[in-house]
Amino acid sequence: MAAISSSTRRRTTVAVEDYLEKIEQLIAQKGYARVVDIADGLKISQASVTAMVQRLDAEGFIKYEKYRGMVLTSSGLEVARRIAHRHELLTDFLRVLGISDEKIIYDDVEGMEHHISPETFRAIEALTRHLESNPGIVAKAMSAAKPADR
Ligand code: FE2
Repeated sequence: MAAISSSTRRRTTVAVEDYLEKIEQLIAQKGYARVVDIADGLKISQASVTAMVQRLDAEGFIKYEKYRGMVLTSSGLEVARRIAHRHELLTDFLRVLGISDEKIIYDDVEGMEHHISPETFRAIEALTRHLESNPGIVAKAMSAAKPADR
């Protein structure tokens, strides 16, 4: 297997990815990310968020100072951007397939964004762009589809 730099392909857990994604969003929206906002955003207790934030600091993803808040390091930013990019693309993918319920899209994307290999992601990305420029393909495929099981 080709050598890939440890910063770009360091294994990250779903929780680490969700936190970094949320921290990046908060900083982009408000200019800062506080424990209380992360706790609200992820529906997790402040005590758990504090423990995780300390772990993210120890692992080099963020710099955290109790009374001054946190910033993402370059490796934290890289993970956050990768997940944000996946989130956007997978959202486009489900939309182009004709999924219109925003909650279904969001919940599915939140799961998928963590569990897709770079290879599969690339294929979905190419397919999404192709379908976006050829909407007739989806219409034809979906006209033959059975309704979803509920
Ligand atoms: Fe996400």
